[in-house]
Amino acid sequence: MKLTLMVWRQESQASAGRLQRIEATDITPDMSFLEMLDVVNERLTLAGERPIAFDHDCREGICGTCGIVINGVPHGPQPGTTTCQLHMRHFRDGQTIVIEPYRAKPFPLLRDLIVDRGALDRIIAAGGYISASTGSAPDGNAIPVAKQRADMAMDAAACIGCGACVAACPNASAMLFVGAKISHLGLLPQGQPERWTRAEQMVAAMDQEGFGHCSNVTECAAVCPKEIDIGVIARMNRDRIGTIFLVARRSLRQDSP
Ligand code: SF4
Ligand code: FES
Repeated sequence: MKLTLMVWRQESQASAGRLQRIEATDITPDMSFLEMLDVVNERLTLAGERPIAFDHDCREGICGTCGIVINGVPHGPQPGTTTCQLHMRHFRDGQTIVIEPYRAKPFPLLRDLIVDRGALDRIIAAGGYISASTGSAPDGNAIPVAKQRADMAMDAAACIGCGACVAACPNASAMLFVGAKISHLGLLPQGQPERWTRAEQMVAAMDQEGFGHCSNVTECAAVCPKEIDIGVIARMNRDRIGTIFLVARRSLRQDSP
C-alpha cells in the first residue's frame, strides 16, 4: 500500500504546529497503524529528519496510551478498537490519512501527536480507589457478588483511561471516563465504604482540571474503544445526588437538639 499522511508536527506546546505531508510506501495491510508509523519513522530517521513523536506502550489495547485522532476520529474508523489494534487493511491503497493529536484544553500538547493526559491520573488519585487493609490474599468468593452486578462492574472496569471520550466531546467532558471508574467501584461491595466521597471528590477533581460538562452528545461512547455504556454517566450523577442527600442528613443530625 502507498498512503499520503498529513501529520500534525509541533515541536512543543509553545511553538506553532502544522500538518506535514509525508508519503508512506511499502505498507502492508497486516501492519497495525502504529507499525505503519514505525516504518515511516525509520525512513525519516535514515533521511536525517526528526521522527514523528507518538505515544504507545502495550500495543495490545490494554494500557490506553496510544490515542491519536485519525481522519477526525479518536482511534480512527474502526469501532471498539484502539489505535494500536487498528490495522491498515481498514484503509484503501492511495488514501490520504490525516493524523492529529487529541485536542482538549486539559490535555496540553507535548510534541507532535503526544499530549499530557496526567489530568485523568489526578482524577483517579482524588477518589478512584478503595481503601482496604493489606495482608494475605482473601479466599476466592469470600464476598458474594450477584452475577449481574459483577458483570456490570467488569464492563465498566474495561475503561483503559485513553481519553478518546474527552477528545471526541465538544465540551471536552471526561464524564464517560469518570462514570466508568465510579461505576466499576460503586457496584461492588468493596467500593461501598467510600462510595459517596468518591463521587464527590472525583467530580470536583474533574471540574478543577477544566473538563467540560456533559450535554448528551454521546460522541464519547461512539468512539470509546472499550464500548463503555453511556449509562455510567447516569450512575455517576445518581451517586453525586446521593452525596448531596448524605451531607444534608448529616447536617440535620448535627443541628437537632
Ligand atoms: S471511557 Fe472509553 S474512551 Fe473514555 S477513557 Fe475509558 S476507554 Fe477511553
Ligand atoms: S498501546 Fe496500549 S492500548 Fe494502545
